[in-house]
Amino acid sequence: MSDFRFDNRVAVITGAGGGLGRAHALMLAARGAKVVVNDLGGNPDGSGEGGSSMADAVVAEIKAAGGEAAANYDSVDSWEGGESIIKTAIDTYGKLDIVINNAGILRDRTMMNMSSEEYNRVMDIHVDGSWYVARAAVPHLRENNYGRVIFTSSGAGLWGNFGQTNYSTAKMAVVGMMLAMKLEMAKYNCHVNVISPLAASRLLGTVMTDEQMETLNPDYVAAMVVYLCSEHCTENGGIFLAGGGNFAKAQMVANDGVTVEKRGDISVENIAMNIDEITDMTDARPYPDAGGRRVKMAES
Ligand code: NAI
Repeated sequence: MSDFRFDNRVAVITGAGGGLGRAHALMLAARGAKVVVNDLGGNPDGSGEGGSSMADAVVAEIKAAGGEAAANYDSVDSWEGGESIIKTAIDTYGKLDIVINNAGILRDRTMMNMSSEEYNRVMDIHVDGSWYVARAAVPHLRENNYGRVIFTSSGAGLWGNFGQTNYSTAKMAVVGMMLAMKLEMAKYNCHVNVISPLAASRLLGTVMTDEQMETLNPDYVAAMVVYLCSEHCTENGGIFLAGGGNFAKAQMVANDGVTVEKRGDISVENIAMNIDEITDMTDARPYPDAGGRRVKMAES
């Protein structure tokens, strides 16, 4: 079994002042990583003044255990914020190896009642925030010729969740960001993956019972994230599910479909005639990129 140590690795974790981000930070630091703990503080819905106390507390915890950590209090939701978060790693530790985009908020409401402000704020933090931090990290990862990047999705994004159109949209958007980034960064030995977690945290406390919360230790998610951040892990472009001790993989797949043209005119009626075969997912498969799928379509 490989030695899953992170000595001389520098990790940035956004939203690491609590919940999952804190668990990722503590586990990486315990295995030798130098960690930038980013958190602007604030409430689960992103409101409130924020402050330094959440990030500082995690930094203190890491240092008390003999690890190395530095705090950053910027919000991920601006270019300046993203740059400053990455700069904290470069200024403090001289390089960057690992980026975990984890910061997030919830503003749940049914679509009928959701305001555009509630929609936009969730997109700002999850989508734009992931972009700013990842974009600021890219030149440093390229220079490093090594990297591990994690985006944080959700079952709400992969499968939908009632009352979460804003959050579901955002959580699928980061999957798209990962899918393009993994292609662009592969030549720099940089792997990019998505985690879809389930863990007891203040975000879930609003929708789960105390009993459910007990079985969902954030460390169970952190173990998968830390594995994906290891130099021994060759996974690139995956969507990994982790929660309650269960670990799994999700994938975007398509079937070969039916080229209706070869069976007569392309028409609504012809599609209707072939709809069972068009929707049969028995032999559905993943593709390495959009080009791979286009080639398949041309062959069919
Ligand atoms: P949490 O609320 O405990 O942690 C989120 C952290 O992000 C907080 O410490 C908060 O202060 C910080 N944050 C919020 N806005 C920020 C900003 N603009 N800049 C910097 N930091 C900011 O929630 P939890 O559950 O630990 O969530 C972590 C991530 O995992 C989120 O992206 C969430 O959407 C995702 N997730 C969590 C699930 C769960 O079961 N807990 C399920 C699916 C996804």
